[in-house]
Amino acid sequence: MRHELSLPDAAATEALGAALARALPARALVFLEGDLGAGKTTLVRGLLRALGHAGPVKSPTYTLLESYDTGGRRVYHFDLYRVAEPEELEFLGARECLGDEALVLVEWARRAGDWLGSPHLSVHLEMAGAGRRAVLESGSAELLRAVVHEFETLREDPRLSH
Ligand SMILES: Nc1ncnc2c1ncn2[C@@H]1O[C@H](COP(=O)(O)OP(=O)(O)OP(=O)(O)O)[C@@H](O)[C@H]1O
Ligand SMILES: [Mg+2]
Repeated sequence: MRHELSLPDAAATEALGAALARALPARALVFLEGDLGAGKTTLVRGLLRALGHAGPVKSPTYTLLESYDTGGRRVYHFDLYRVAEPEELEFLGARECLGDEALVLVEWARRAGDWLGSPHLSVHLEMAGAGRRAVLESGSAELLRAVVHEFETLREDPRLSH
């Protein structure tokens, strides 16, 4: 199943992140695809803010992994851009992360080959003029519907995002 959304500005990308926070179960694997600067980390920032995280949300470009405990949820944010081979994921403790009751959000997941398995949801961000387009894909029509519904609700009333 596939659904496209228009994200005219960074606030819309954050709202999509907040929609994921509301729609995903406590345990989920999400791939964030898209070129450098497409908005993947911005989406994670929106998700964490919606869960109540008030501190900084750093890009894990160098650390490869940032972990959060917020709003009763555990979130692992990977950025695999610099990963050369899946073995590095073992060293990072990624297997434990996948086994946890946690949201696992992965930028540049393709660097891991098949190692991560298939995600519950993938979000592909593409440039669209000054804004972005998001292509959501999931094997679960129910999950996709929930994300789109939450996104539309948040766009109508942005105060709900925080
Ligand atoms: N929908 C949008 N429209 C316009 N600008 C956006 C949108 N979403 C995010 N941005 C902007 O794009 C820039 C890059 O965003 P971000 O760092 O999240 O990208 P990224 O995909 O994580 O990049 P990288 O692959 O380098 O980690 C930021 O300045 C952000 O504000
Ligand atoms: Mg990033």
